[in-house]
Amino acid sequence: MWKKLFGGAGSRETFEIPAKDSPLFERINWEKLPRHVAIIMDGNGRWAKGKGMLRTAGHTAGVKTLKNILKTAIGLQLDALTVYAFSTENWKRPRPEVDFLMQLFSDYLKKELQEMHEDNVQIHFLGRIDGLPKSLQKQMRDAEALMKDNTGVKFNVAANYGGQDELLRATQSIAAKAAAGELKPEDITLSTIENELDTKGNLPVDLVIRTSGDLRLSNFLLWQSAYAEFWFTDTNWPDFTPEDFVDAMVDFAGRNRRFGGLKNT
Ligand code: FPP
Repeated sequence: MWKKLFGGAGSRETFEIPAKDSPLFERINWEKLPRHVAIIMDGNGRWAKGKGMLRTAGHTAGVKTLKNILKTAIGLQLDALTVYAFSTENWKRPRPEVDFLMQLFSDYLKKELQEMHEDNVQIHFLGRIDGLPKSLQKQMRDAEALMKDNTGVKFNVAANYGGQDELLRATQSIAAKAAAGELKPEDITLSTIENELDTKGNLPVDLVIRTSGDLRLSNFLLWQSAYAEFWFTDTNWPDFTPEDFVDAMVDFAGRNRRFGGLKNT
């Protein structure tokens, strides 16, 4: 079933959805899965350093992990998987690393687009996309357009994204509407704000996973994670496996979520 899920070397077998009979999913409580999972894919650099390799090799290895985790999310029929690929702060990195990452995103789209489309994935990019290289912007918009009518997992890739920046943009847009007389300040609701966020149309985040040992949110999905559960692992992102992902699902199923109330919901 593993082979069936991920395909043999060089082959591409479609797998049955839901893949409930896969040994990988034996421990899954299907009634208590998170609907929206967000991942901070950290530790590519540390992984590479540990192997005496360049940091960029860690990012390349991280792409393979991402592919496997997206496949697992498809098998689990999650509603949404959101990943942090590049933050508004990542521009501070050395130019060659930034350029490498931009090229990696572009290559990833070229290589994986068709397969994601066949897997019924809806891809969407979060963040200041207009701050990315022009050719990459076009690839991203084309990918979104290609998959816009798909009905499977919403795969959100945060690139040039910051949670504070997202809230700033939302605030500016709402203020502009108010100034134009289209909206009264007293009519602003939580939905007004949600509809201005890059994640418009997504459910709130149920579970945030962060790899590589750091215990922080790093400006990721600040609004959307208001009631999220958190799951951390010391494993670096390139070593993160579908089994680790299932571990997080199992842990989540045992959490007592009260949303500020007294009862577990
Ligand atoms: C954090 O590790 C990782 C990133 C800033 C880049 C994430 C990118 C990928 C996983 C590549 C795949 C993504 C797509 C969308 C194709 P780090 O470099 O901060 O590692 P460190 O903390 O060990 O230095």
